[in-house]
Amino acid sequence: MSPVVLGCDHAGYELKETIKGYLDTLGCEVADFGTHSEASVDYPDFGSRVARSIDKGEYDRAILICGTGLGMSMVANRFAGVRGALCNDLFSAIMSRRHNDANILIMGGRVIGSELAREIVRTWLETPFEGGRHHQRLEKFCAF
Ligand code: RB5
Repeated sequence: MSPVVLGCDHAGYELKETIKGYLDTLGCEVADFGTHSEASVDYPDFGSRVARSIDKGEYDRAILICGTGLGMSMVANRFAGVRGALCNDLFSAIMSRRHNDANILIMGGRVIGSELAREIVRTWLETPFEGGRHHQRLEKFCAF
């Protein structure tokens, strides 16, 4: 699998750093698209760079973090090849892989704690897409 791309704004920076360290312990290669400090930035700048890299097929999976996850989610899902899933709970993370084949996981750094976020990330990366009837549904995304 290609490196997991990480992106965040200032409100997601702390959690992004936590997740980066966690992915390292899992032996998972990371491409960090920033931001790289808690200085205020605009989430569309960072979200769009990450989403574009997934849309272009340069990477397979990405994780985006802002304060709530909402802004990053809105930005990411403007790209045709992106299936971005805002998951601040474990069940959504599992189902976003099984049924939606999500290729970007989005979380809110001001919504969830680091322990839950780690669990969400590990589970999201390990859970396969079920295919079958779900594949046919995803194909309909191309018709819009
Ligand atoms: C930044 O203050 C905050 O608005 C941003 O991180 C995000 O939550 C937007 O949706």
